[in-house]
Amino acid sequence: MIAANTQLGIFAPNLKMNQMEFDEWRKFIYVLSGIYFQDNKKYLLESRLQRRMKFIGITSFDEYFNFIRFKQEGKAEINYLLEAITINETYFFRNQAQLDVLVSKVLPDMIKKKREFGNKKLKIWSAASSSGEEAYSIAMVINEFIKPQNPDFTFEIVGTDIDRNVIKTAQNGIYREYSIRNMPKHFLRKYFEFNGGSYALRPEIKKYVSFKILNLYDERAMRMMLNYDIILCENVLIYFDVNSKIKVVSLLYNALNSGGYLFIGFAETLHGITRAFKIVNFPKTIGYLKE
Ligand SMILES: C[S@@+](CC[C@H](N)C(=O)[O-])C[C@H]1O[C@@H](n2cnc3c(N)ncnc32)[C@H](O)[C@@H]1O
Repeated sequence: MIAANTQLGIFAPNLKMNQMEFDEWRKFIYVLSGIYFQDNKKYLLESRLQRRMKFIGITSFDEYFNFIRFKQEGKAEINYLLEAITINETYFFRNQAQLDVLVSKVLPDMIKKKREFGNKKLKIWSAASSSGEEAYSIAMVINEFIKPQNPDFTFEIVGTDIDRNVIKTAQNGIYREYSIRNMPKHFLRKYFEFNGGSYALRPEIKKYVSFKILNLYDERAMRMMLNYDIILCENVLIYFDVNSKIKVVSLLYNALNSGGYLFIGFAETLHGITRAFKIVNFPKTIGYLKE
């Protein structure tokens, strides 16, 4: 108890940044990741950084900044910094309307077209997948509604995120109550094993999906992502400013096949970001088609 109090005293958890520090930090983070902290998000940056600083025993924002930029060990710290500032909120079946559109329209149409060309493979990318719930939700609906009619088809789903921790969770495929709260009971019973308070995804669904670390703002890595039929980039563009949105969306466009779709979050828009896609209005969902 005494130790905890002492710690709180030493690592004063309510440090405030001055404007110059804030500007330096947000520029640094922006160049790294495209994430832009608006003026009204200063408190968020302060509290996220402090949690990490406290953990490694650094007591001022300035010291932490210099540590990351100039110390040898600072290079490895960049990953922890990114983990500290990202917001990983996600859950299974977060966007039910979109899953319905995929199952009832987009996937059947694509499969039909691909068959005409003798192509039996479909590639889906959950970009900024967080801990994998979005990618696995798609795998479940494919396994349930699409695969039975198309047993000869291969569905390859990849999930990527900048944050190493969430990618580890995704690879493990073990979830807490919070993640499954919105999931239809049928899927929970069929595809998960309940074990001591956690829900482990069954191998028959895990096998569809692979995960890797990828920064959407890293042009070189992004250019290696090719020939996707569907890309979901949901609830991440909101953290970017207009210029990073333009850059990331154009890299996603390059990663799509002609005839492929980009889907973004329910509350997001590409208005003012790109005119490269054809907007397709589905029930309660907008798809961005690369013609
Ligand atoms: C709110 S979650 C969205 C998860 C999921 N797509 C969904 O809609 O439920 C946002 C994710 O974007 C990731 N992220 C933020 N900046 C990123 C970047 N530059 N490259 C890749 N992922 C990033 C975060 O780590 C976080 O896991």
